[in-house]
Amino acid sequence: MKAEKQMLYLGSNLKMYKTISETVSFLTRLAALTRDVDREQLCLFIIPSYTALDAAVKAVHGQIRLGAQNMFWADSGPWTGEISPIMLKDLNLDIVELGHSERRRHFGETDRSVNKKVLAALEHNLTPLICVGETLQEKNHGIQVEKLRQQLKIALYGVPETRIGRIWLAYEPVWAIGEAGIPADPAYAGSMHKVLRDALAELYPGRANLVPILYGGSVNLDNAAHLIQEPEIDGLFIGRAAWQADSFYEIISRVLPLWLEKVKGGPTHEKTH
Ligand code: PGA
Repeated sequence: MKAEKQMLYLGSNLKMYKTISETVSFLTRLAALTRDVDREQLCLFIIPSYTALDAAVKAVHGQIRLGAQNMFWADSGPWTGEISPIMLKDLNLDIVELGHSERRRHFGETDRSVNKKVLAALEHNLTPLICVGETLQEKNHGIQVEKLRQQLKIALYGVPETRIGRIWLAYEPVWAIGEAGIPADPAYAGSMHKVLRDALAELYPGRANLVPILYGGSVNLDNAAHLIQEPEIDGLFIGRAAWQADSFYEIISRVLPLWLEKVKGGPTHEKTH
């Protein structure tokens, strides 16, 4: 597989917050602020609500990569309320977020359903952004490593090695997400990224570095700088702190030079997306 240059991945899931017009003004402002940022170095992506996707693609196509927050696995059928991979491709999207903890917790998403969606996404040339992470109780029981390995192995079940380079991963400890979240200590997050990288290496020898692993959960301007210096953290998947374009841009401006310094000094992870 031919790998492209290594990149920093910074993105945000807008959850169920912005209307169509709010999404468009956010994206337009973010595109303007980041106009001069080298897209060979930065992969900038936003994941808006379904209703705003069409307008979002039209507003910033080519400047900001866009994705959907979920997807069903079937191409079409009697699945009222669901959205198919074909429908997402129809919008010219290329990313689909799968298995966010809010979907697992409130909407019955399981490792098995995430796996079906991952396979369907790959079939349609969408990039699956798979979210994994332990709950506080699992962390307290000391089973976070087992939990992450289980989530990862089931999510990737049946993914051939020729397609592993399309996958993006986000480590998002459930206890770190949202208003009540406690941001993970950067060293702890780094060690969990290493667990994921090692599991990838077991499953796909020689290809683990093709998968960018992003950290998410109460990322803010201050902790972003520390998190990105961890060797196995390839990017940040940000919620609240990225929902104002100017604040997101501040994070980008702080993190990108630190990331460049890190990759100049350390071993290079080659990425395909
Ligand atoms: P947060 O959200 O940054 O607001 O904690 C992160 C996420 O849910 O991905």
